[in-house]
Amino acid sequence: MCGIVGYVGYRNAQDVLLGGLSRLEYRGYDSAGIAVKARSMGTSSTQITVSKKAGKLAVLAQELENSPLTGCIGIGHTRWATHGLPNDANAHPHATEDGRLVIIHNGIIENYLSLKEGLLARGHVFRSETDSEVLAHLIEETYRGNLELAVREALRQVRGAYGIVVTHADHNQIVAARTVSPLVMGIGEGEMFLGSDVPALLPYTRNMIFLHDGDMAVLSQDGYRITNLEGVEQTREVTLIDWDAEAAEKGGFDTFMLKEIYEQPTALTNTLMGRLHDETGEVVLDIALEPAGFERIHIVACGTAYYAALVGEYLIEQLARVPVEVDVASEYRYREPLVDDKTLVIVVSQSGETIDTLEALREAKKSGAKTLGVINAKGSSMTREVDDVLYIHAGPEIGVASTKAYTAMVSAMLLLALWLGRARGTLNAKMGAELLHGVRELPRLVEESLQPERVAHIKKVAEKYKDSRDYLFLGRGVNAPTALEGALKLKEISYIHAEGYASGEMKHGPIALIDSNLPVVVVATESRLLEKTVSAIQEVKARSGKVIALVTDGDSMASRHADDVISVPRAHEMVSPIVNVVALQLLAYFTATALERDVDKPRNLAKSVTVE
Ligand code: M6R
Repeated sequence: MCGIVGYVGYRNAQDVLLGGLSRLEYRGYDSAGIAVKARSMGTSSTQITVSKKAGKLAVLAQELENSPLTGCIGIGHTRWATHGLPNDANAHPHATEDGRLVIIHNGIIENYLSLKEGLLARGHVFRSETDSEVLAHLIEETYRGNLELAVREALRQVRGAYGIVVTHADHNQIVAARTVSPLVMGIGEGEMFLGSDVPALLPYTRNMIFLHDGDMAVLSQDGYRITNLEGVEQTREVTLIDWDAEAAEKGGFDTFMLKEIYEQPTALTNTLMGRLHDETGEVVLDIALEPAGFERIHIVACGTAYYAALVGEYLIEQLARVPVEVDVASEYRYREPLVDDKTLVIVVSQSGETIDTLEALREAKKSGAKTLGVINAKGSSMTREVDDVLYIHAGPEIGVASTKAYTAMVSAMLLLALWLGRARGTLNAKMGAELLHGVRELPRLVEESLQPERVAHIKKVAEKYKDSRDYLFLGRGVNAPTALEGALKLKEISYIHAEGYASGEMKHGPIALIDSNLPVVVVATESRLLEKTVSAIQEVKARSGKVIALVTDGDSMASRHADDVISVPRAHEMVSPIVNVVALQLLAYFTATALERDVDKPRNLAKSVTVE
């Protein structure tokens, strides 16, 4: 939550900061602000100018068009509000009373109230209701001419999560520090960058350093220095990022979400690339995990990643016959799960920074579990803390509603299930070969799902039901999570209330909701339980519900009873969740656009949830 950018170099800082923030706005869009200063000569100091506005970045950009800030050192912030309303005063950056020291912060200062009381008693004047502002005043108190030392000393008093960047009128450097909240440093020639995430920096450099928890960095035009909070020098590896800058731009699409939906065939190709061995028919995973070295698996994740984990549970139990438990991370970390060194804990995450998942991982490690991350973002906190990583290689995902990361996560779970099944001897060669064929077909099938006439039809269906107050999504077996994910997508971006259920559960409660106003999306693609799904459709129809059936091309069973039919390409049942969900992503997308919602920045949400 919250996006941070920092720059020191020779360019116009305002342009770098606004560009960087536009690529980080998915992290929060309650307000935006920048602070810029010119380089000072010798011992003279230069004034820092701050411009900040409630609302999306466009509001600030408009303000800056009228009154631009000049200078080549600056910091910028896009906010997801935790403490205090999303208004101008609470927008970052926050400055000291004399305006000589300015900070931006991502995270939560847990002991801010007691710190604030002390600061008020010592005469500091606060202009905002945020927890972050205490940092500016604390650093001001510890400042005696050396900004790095002052930040270090102030942070010793702080408890909580922070990614912080500080600039001072007397210095041609910016000082950053992180604990929990992510910070990436970009290395240029004669310039240095900071960002909460890689896409912010991609147009300028691909050489990046992921700062670790407890790191502090001092950046100047001449380079950087990394220490810990005790002042001990730290060496951090420079990672060459292989994403290109265009990958983080809209590339002609109206929204990032639509672009990312269309990127799925490529993302899936990348997830599978080099992992399916043509000659032996084996799955080859670049992980050191011993496939027979554990007795049970726990999979932990949040949101969409949790639904990918539910598909993973089904696949791993079916193919590898290992008991699997799946839990949402915020529950798992506090429920004292039974974990030992015979447990493999898998964390699934697009960002690798979701705090609930990260903390659940840490809890599991304390109990001696082996850990594996199924993760998209390279260099993220989780990738550094797990024993092994299975990257999903989906590329940067900017849209707040996850799409390509979901299908890539499910594909990675599928690969893992196949790999475990083969290694543990539970998957026979025939079934293995059939499935492998199904997996190989995935990019093509998803490409086919995105043919213009299919997309246009889904758009029509979405527009027909756009004014519905509620929606119900039903699915069964390996596609029960598809229904949950379909409902989540719709509610996130259209704000229509949607429930997802395993279709067999409908008669145990949700059936009471059905009337002629309720659209019920039923995932009724080919499966060994299709007849039972058709019975569920009939039960909905018997109560005048409106059925939108998601069926396999050429279907004649489920379509017969449906009000509207969405056909998808035929896929092996085990891989069908990946093909089916694409239609539900589009249904959600076109419902939201018909209602004129801001799909890339749905209200109240942020892409990466780094607060508990
Ligand atoms: O980065 P992660 O995969 O750990 O994020 C988990 C959830 O916050 C995320 O999937 C969220 O539910 C998305 N908005 C779903 O579209």
